[in-house]
Amino acid sequence: MNKQKITAPIITQMKQQGEKISALTAYDYLMAMYLDDAGLDLILVGDSGAMVFAGHDTTIPITMDELIYHTRAASRGVKRALLVADMPFLSYQISPEDALRNAGRFIKEGRAEAVKLEGGEAMAETVNRMVNAGIPVMGHLGLTPQSINKFGGYKVQARSEKSVEKLVSDAVALEQAGAFSIVLEKIPSAAAKLVTEKVNVPTVGIGAGPHCDGQILVTHDMLGLFEKFRPKFIRIYAELGNEIREACARYVEDVKIKSFPNKDESY
Ligand code: KIV
Repeated sequence: MNKQKITAPIITQMKQQGEKISALTAYDYLMAMYLDDAGLDLILVGDSGAMVFAGHDTTIPITMDELIYHTRAASRGVKRALLVADMPFLSYQISPEDALRNAGRFIKEGRAEAVKLEGGEAMAETVNRMVNAGIPVMGHLGLTPQSINKFGGYKVQARSEKSVEKLVSDAVALEQAGAFSIVLEKIPSAAAKLVTEKVNVPTVGIGAGPHCDGQILVTHDMLGLFEKFRPKFIRIYAELGNEIREACARYVEDVKIKSFPNKDESY
């Protein structure tokens, strides 16, 4: 594995070099360390932590202070990957000034190396302000979970010709504003292909098919830790939820039958 520290410009260059970008989420030191050891290019401290870490029903309730805490914890486990912090709901939509202040907190207090926010053309000025202040920004289009109440569910987006046109113009607006990459979530493969061909910055897909320049999944989904729902775009690489239950049940049994601790495990 190439040990070179990954930066935002390197993520952008990977598209030109035809190298796929691997990305996963982490919310704490240990998981970030395991992902970094495994060779991930990008680690996102996602607002998905609201659901898979904190148990909320949506990503909306997580706060700036909570995500800064998670980002700082994750940063201690990362040596090589690019660490990106997700901007929570209403931390960047009110005004570009407010957004810049909050993005700056992720860099200064959270030790993130870039931030991610949801939205296209409407966010272009905000993205530009951040980039001009030296903060790399990752865009997020398609199914943007902070707008779940507007969408009325976690439905596949960009199905109509008009919505694909809007998706492409949003992606171009983000690129022109200076975004270094763009997440595309839950859209048809053909729409993701179109966007990927249209922009020079890499697209990183989740439920967006094989044509994106990279892929991202929520780690707790792909490791089988989050079992509430499993959309078809998730590939399950391990069933750690079951492993944890089984291991802990064995521990309970050992304590009850007094086989733990044994002589070797005692002073
Ligand atoms: O919060 C998150 O984990 C995300 C990814 C799904 C891209 O935004």
